[in-house]
Amino acid sequence: MLEAPPLLLAAGALVLVLLALLWLLQALRLWGLFIIGWNELVLHPIRNLLMGNSKEQRILHHVLQHAVAGDPQSVLDTIDAYCSQKEWAMNVGDKKGQIVDAVLREQRPLVLLELGAYCGYSAVRMARLLLPGARLLTIELNPDYAAITQQMVDFAGLQDRVTVVVGASEDIIPQLKKKYDVDIVDMVFLDHWKDRYLPDTLLLESRGAVVTMKDFSVFLDTRRYKNWAYKIFS
Ligand SMILES: C[S@@+](CC[C@H](N)C(=O)[O-])C[C@H]1O[C@@H](n2cnc3c(N)ncnc32)[C@H](O)[C@@H]1O
Repeated sequence: MLEAPPLLLAAGALVLVLLALLWLLQALRLWGLFIIGWNELVLHPIRNLLMGNSKEQRILHHVLQHAVAGDPQSVLDTIDAYCSQKEWAMNVGDKKGQIVDAVLREQRPLVLLELGAYCGYSAVRMARLLLPGARLLTIELNPDYAAITQQMVDFAGLQDRVTVVVGASEDIIPQLKKKYDVDIVDMVFLDHWKDRYLPDTLLLESRGAVVTMKDFSVFLDTRRYKNWAYKIFS
């Protein structure tokens, strides 16, 4: 009987392990997470290396080239089209964005705080609906993302309504009053890392914020955030 070479056996074993892993991911409904991880950790870094820029810079360049300056809706449509057709990105997107729009229209905040700006999609989305004189302060940890957000906001013509702050939410929240002249916050859009939702909500409360269910109704519509909303308010 012919013996298979060890290299072939090892390759066969590897294929079997990979197939088992793929089956497990699907069985545990982690397939979507795997695709995102594969894109974020493998494909995008390779693409960034080859193209000499980051995905976030590519999104911004696409907007600068294809959207209409001073037209926030055109900026949103251009980002949505790019991210659905070319490269996925962690913007709130149009589907959840419509829920955000509805909350904004209902609440009409004069001072709106956002935690987690990324490329500025949600900042543009929310700022476009603000009443005259109202303002949005958006806090972003990553200086590269914050710079992209600022350019996105400028291009959309919303720079008078939006202040982009670079830093960690937990460091900036205690400075809101003294450094950023924010006394009362009417609404907070939590969209940074999930493990900060609860501590930052408690931090806001400790600074005198009255946290109500309505402020977070945007999250109640998505199964993903339901537990957090429940934990915060129960
Ligand atoms: C999901 S993205 C935000 C998407 C954005 N709101 C949008 O819809 O266009 C999360 C962002 O939160 C930022 N972030 C994470 N932890 C943070 C913190 N503690 N303070 C401020 N920003 C944070 C990340 O750098 C990332 O850009």
